[in-house]
Amino acid sequence: MYRTHTNGELRIENSGETVQLSGWVQKIRDKGFMIWVDLRDRYGVTQLIFDQKRTAKEIMDLVRTVGREYVVRVEGKVIERESKNPHLTTGAVEVLVTDMEVLNPSEIPPFTIEDDTDGGDEIRMRYRYLDLRRNPVKEKLIFRHNVTMAVRNYLSSRGFLEIETPYLIKSTPEGARDFVVPSRMHPGEFYALPQSPQTFKQLLMVGGMDKYFQIVKCFRDEDLRADRQPEFTQIDCEMAFVQQQDVMQMFEGLTRYLLKEIAGVETGEFPQMTYDQAIKRYGNDKPDIRFGMEFGELNDLAQHREFEVFNQAELVVGIALPNCAGYSRKELDKLTKWVKRPQIGAKGLVYVKYNEDGSFKSSVDKFYKASDFEAWADRTGASPGDLICILSGPASDTRAQLSALRMEMAERLNLRNPREFAPLWVVDFPLFETDKETGALHAMHHPFTAPKPEDREYLETAPLKVRANAYDLVLNGNEVGGGSIRIHDQTLQKRMFSALGFTSEEAQAQFGFLMNAFKYGAPPHGGLAFGLDRLVALLAGKEIIRDFIAFPKNNSGRDVMIDAPALIDAQQLEELHLHIRMDKED
Ligand code: AMO
Repeated sequence: MYRTHTNGELRIENSGETVQLSGWVQKIRDKGFMIWVDLRDRYGVTQLIFDQKRTAKEIMDLVRTVGREYVVRVEGKVIERESKNPHLTTGAVEVLVTDMEVLNPSEIPPFTIEDDTDGGDEIRMRYRYLDLRRNPVKEKLIFRHNVTMAVRNYLSSRGFLEIETPYLIKSTPEGARDFVVPSRMHPGEFYALPQSPQTFKQLLMVGGMDKYFQIVKCFRDEDLRADRQPEFTQIDCEMAFVQQQDVMQMFEGLTRYLLKEIAGVETGEFPQMTYDQAIKRYGNDKPDIRFGMEFGELNDLAQHREFEVFNQAELVVGIALPNCAGYSRKELDKLTKWVKRPQIGAKGLVYVKYNEDGSFKSSVDKFYKASDFEAWADRTGASPGDLICILSGPASDTRAQLSALRMEMAERLNLRNPREFAPLWVVDFPLFETDKETGALHAMHHPFTAPKPEDREYLETAPLKVRANAYDLVLNGNEVGGGSIRIHDQTLQKRMFSALGFTSEEAQAQFGFLMNAFKYGAPPHGGLAFGLDRLVALLAGKEIIRDFIAFPKNNSGRDVMIDAPALIDAQQLEELHLHIRMDKED
């Protein structure tokens, strides 16, 4: 028997009991006649005491040979501690050891396994299994487990079936590149790993499953960011015989339940905003609405004057930074430099200080009067004491730049309170977007999304005008979920593929299985998928998803622990019919 109790379990009531504990040695203090050892496992830490008078000599000798992270089993008696530790749940007692066995020694770990460790990111990723022993990391995984259990309970109790779909499939377009897997049995052919189970969940609806969900890995070969991993997890859902409001209601319910159960926050009905409104008011389709700083468009107030930069711009738009009118020259220069960084790309920044005394001081004093600034302040919602920041240029770039500035300043001004939750539905997305480089039409969501019935007539003539029955769930400025009502009739699906530039042969070759299925009585259906990693991180008040994944990839998509991706040997390449010329010299 390894243990009668865990290391988080013993209390004063257990005093006098003989117990067995197993775990890792966290800390050793040797006072000569007495030795204390902190023994750790997933559940907590228990203090062991080895006493020269009461512990056998060979055990005293043995404990002196163990080091940090040794795995040991002990037997002993629970006794009340003289000096209690109120920070530990087991802090009222200690175990007087009478017997001990070393189950496995350990090398000295490359970083300290403490809440505040001395290990940097890289080394902790390489030894992730050691990092997992640390409370802050372990607790995030427990938190994730709690969220997934709550999700499963909620959906299952509402009639959803959890059904697995395959990973070795054919490309499902979600806008990223596929990871592909070569087939040994079919020379020259490849499987694609799913970017999402989108087509399969639609086929499950055709198959009459009615309500489906799956907590499922998805794979996307795209550039990584704090909120993106190449393999990530979705709570993928689909429902038959539903309209947009039915789907939104169901998953608003789930989100509200999670906010309450997991984060302890009550939320009312989630607000909704159209895509167009979100872009105009926040420059972004996933606005953080925990704070104001809404965009004020200034074209009519600022153009047709002497200031050529504004006159030539498609859009002049500003925001009011609260209580920033006191910024020094240096601070303003720094802010200007910030927006001009290549990652942001603004040409410059015009500022207007709205001083506490009601006067204005700006970088464009030469061209405008106080009455102009007053109108700008009114438009941007600025009050005395605020700093109005204005950008100008091509509309969509300028909005994106100002949106970046808005988020950066909200961060610096501590307006992004992680314990406050502001969910938001963004609806009425455009069905298509144009590729910046090629000008080609792409499905903004995916090609199975239904156009709004009233916009269908423009599918061929003015596709960019067509809005979709698509919706995103935004939480604190992050897209946590997205979905749509799907096309369920083959004629409309064919029109959609043709608008996207597929020939009917191409559409048939790639998606024939789906269009065939639509011939056999596909029910109206729709759904949504949450990004589980994002949802979990946000519920915990964080935005970096990597910390909530047991074995994440680093910023360049590598697993530095197992060293993947890696080369494979020539024989394996041959079996897979892959003839890759390696330029790399060994
Ligand atoms: P979408 O592509 O919007 O929709 O993805 C759904 C949600 O998944 C999360 N997500 C990611 N999380 C981490 N890393 C990534 N690389 C990543 N990419 C996406 C986001 C996003 O909102 N099949 C559709 C859903 C549907 O229509 O039902 C889909 O996959 O939180």
